[in-house]
Parts: sequence; C-alpha cells; structure tokens
Amino acid sequence: MAKMWAGRFQKETDAVVNDFNSSVTFDSRMYREDIEGSLAHAAMLARQCIISSEDCRAITEGLAGVRADLDAGKIDLSPEAYEDIHMAVEEVLTERIGDAGKRLHTARSRNDQVALDMRLYTRKEILTIRALVLEFMRVLVQKAKENLHTVMPGYTHLQRAQPITFAHHLMAYCNMLRRDVTRLNDCLERMDECPLGSGALAGTTYPIDRAFTAERLGFNAPMDNSLDGVADRDYCIELCAALSVLMLHLSRLSEEVVAWCSWEFKFVELDDAYSTGSSIMPQKKNPDVCELIRGKTGRVYGSLTALLTLMKGLPLAYNKDMQEDKEAVFDAVDNVKMCLRVFAPMFETMTVLPENMKKAAYRGFINATDCADYLTKKGVPFRDAYKATGTLVARCIELGTTLDALPIEEYRAVSDVFEEDVYHAIDLNVCVAERRSLGGPAPEEVSRQITKIEGFIEHEA
Ligand code: ARG
Repeated sequence: MAKMWAGRFQKETDAVVNDFNSSVTFDSRMYREDIEGSLAHAAMLARQCIISSEDCRAITEGLAGVRADLDAGKIDLSPEAYEDIHMAVEEVLTERIGDAGKRLHTARSRNDQVALDMRLYTRKEILTIRALVLEFMRVLVQKAKENLHTVMPGYTHLQRAQPITFAHHLMAYCNMLRRDVTRLNDCLERMDECPLGSGALAGTTYPIDRAFTAERLGFNAPMDNSLDGVADRDYCIELCAALSVLMLHLSRLSEEVVAWCSWEFKFVELDDAYSTGSSIMPQKKNPDVCELIRGKTGRVYGSLTALLTLMKGLPLAYNKDMQEDKEAVFDAVDNVKMCLRVFAPMFETMTVLPENMKKAAYRGFINATDCADYLTKKGVPFRDAYKATGTLVARCIELGTTLDALPIEEYRAVSDVFEEDVYHAIDLNVCVAERRSLGGPAPEEVSRQITKIEGFIEHEA
C-alpha cells in the first residue's frame, strides 16, 4: 500500500526497512485506546468548530465500526498493510468514510497520539495488576489466619534463629505487597496528565481545547508542556520499577516456597495441580511455578533496564527509539499478571505442615534468646546471661539434646539462678506468645497486623 507520506518520496520503502520500522505487530494491542483517543479528539475538534459536526458524526460512527471489526479480528493488521496501529485505524476509517476520515488528524500528531495511547493502556493495566496484588494479599491473609499458632523457626543467614509463626511470616509479605500497591498508586497519580494536544512537539495554531479532551479521557489535567508531552516516558519507567520491586517480593516468596517444599524442610506440600513431575525421576514433584516466577523476575528487571537505557541519551522531543518502549512495558505487564494469576491459587491450595515446622523449631535452639532473657529478667546482666546460655547450648550439642530436654542439674551447674520455671519460659509456644512487642509474632499481635492489612485491602479494592 502507498505510504501516507508518499508525496515527499520518489521511491517505495525497502521491504526490510518496512518490517523493521513497523510496530503494528505489537502496538495493535492498544487499538481500543487509540480509538478512544480519536473519539475524544474528534469531539473536541467539532466543539471548537475545527471540523463540522457532520464530519464528527461520520468519524464517531466510523470508528465504532472499525472497533467492532478489530474486536472481531476482521482487519488484517500485518506490517505489509500498516506501519502502526495509529495509521491502521486512520487508514481503515478513511477507506470507509472518505474525507471526514482524512480530517481526523487535524491538530494532532502520531507523537501525541502514541503518548496518549500508552498512558491509557498502562493506566488500565495498572488497575488490573493492583487488583491482582490485592487478591493475592487476600490469599496470604487467609493462610495467616489459619496459622496464627503455627510455630516455625524464623531464620537469619538461613540458620534457625528465633521462634515465629507461619502467620507472622506471611504477614511480612503482606506488608511488602501493601507497599507495592501504594507504589502503583503513586505511579497512577503522577501519570494522570493528558499529552493529547501536544501535537508533534510544538502544540498547534488551531484553537484546540486540551482541558476538554483531558477530562473526557479521564485525566486530572492536560500535560503542561507540549515538548514534555511527547517526550516523556517516565511513567513507563516508574511502572517497570514498581513492577520490579513487586516481582522481587514474589521472587523471594517463591524461593522460600521452593525451600519449604523440599524434603530438607517439608514445611508445605504443593497441590498436584500446581506442581510438575520429572521426565526421568518418578519420585519428583517440582515447584516449577515458583521457579518460573523467580526466573521471570529477571525479565521484568530487563524491561526496566531496557527503558532506562533507551531513554537516557534521547534529545527532546520524539525519537523513533521510543517505539521500543512498548514491548518492554508489555512484556513486564504480561509477565507480572501471569505470575500473580498463577501464584495466588498455588498458594491457596498449598497444604501447610505445622508438625514439620514445629519439629524444625525444636531442633534449632531458637529459644536460646528466651533462655538468656529468663536469666536477665531475674537480674543477671544480659551479656552474662548470653554467655551462660551459650555454654548450655554447647552442652546440649555435646549430649545430643535440646534446651527443653536438658536436666535442671545441667542448668544449675551453669547458673544457680535457674529454677524449674525455666522450662516454661523456653517453651516455644510461650516464647511466641510472649513476643507481644509491636510487630512481633504473638498471635494477638499478628491478629492486629491482619486487621490492619484487611482494612487496607478493603480500602483499596
Ligand atoms: N509507532 C510509533 C511509536 O510507537 C508511533 C509514533 C510515530 N511517530 C513518528 N514521528 N514516527 O513510537
């Protein structure tokens, strides 16, 4: 097909260049946004008497038809036919309605058009991702509620450290995800400005009404500088940064689930529907879902790095390099959505094995701090108490036993402050229940954390 710019040229575009230059294979996913923007633009042009109301009606009806045919997959969107989605919509429209279609691009450029489409698209996707994160938080909260009393070791350096509960552990992730939701909110708020009407870069001599289109398209305001309007991709970068942190959180949890369902831990068992087998080892049940989430995290970071690198050397305003923003954002968005959609039901159907968590808790001397605290509460300076407990732990290792089973004579040989009530003080359930400090693992304290997060989810949903 002859190019829209053919008048200026004496030769046709080289076929390889045509493919290279075209973005329709991937930007066609924004056709609804493109049409929405054109509808608002046409309405504004008519309102300002820049085009006639008859032309506006023809454009409006024509675009509805194009949208219906695109919905039905009736329009061939190959690079041979169209360069990008913006040209495709305009050309199809013009084929159908003639001159009115040719008037649509008055006082507009593809530069402000693509800037608008990307904003409309990312805004929609952010809302979807937010909802998926909130849904996943609901799953975590539910599991936390069922495991308020499920004692497990908390770790530092992947060494058993102090007693916590599974609920406490999950609520840590809920708080990370809460911040992820607020990061997405911030991104939405900052990108809530409309670039339409920036023109190619320098605005227009037509008496356009940018406030009208901004409002009609659901933006807070028009962007205040036309060069910025077409050159800015901050919001894409900000979105990919927010998604990278979100993926980082999903990846850490994935890593933990991988560990937890290994025979070394066996804290959880994944549902068959969410695990995979091995082609050679009949005994295997693999946490592929978690591993893929961990892997795809790298991909989302890749999008962020690509965008940062893409934009860093570009002079104002539009440069074709910026066409590369789309696949980076699309890939990040697609992968994050997929990860959340598979992770939530995987987590929901996962069986928690409290007995195994408890067994691990009993084996790691994770009540040693509580043993030292016992002495401290009886007046022994903490450093002396710490040393005495260290001696007891060494003695336990020597005897192949635990602090809970070590005879009282052994305790008294180290410090005569020890009495029978030490066994109560170092009982794991007591150790957890007594950790009532704000943010701690005591069941009533974790319940408070849960109530707070539930309030957040309700507020944001
Ligand atoms: N397909 C282009 C993109 O995605 C649309 C903008 C084209 N503008 C231009 N001046 N060539 O960036």
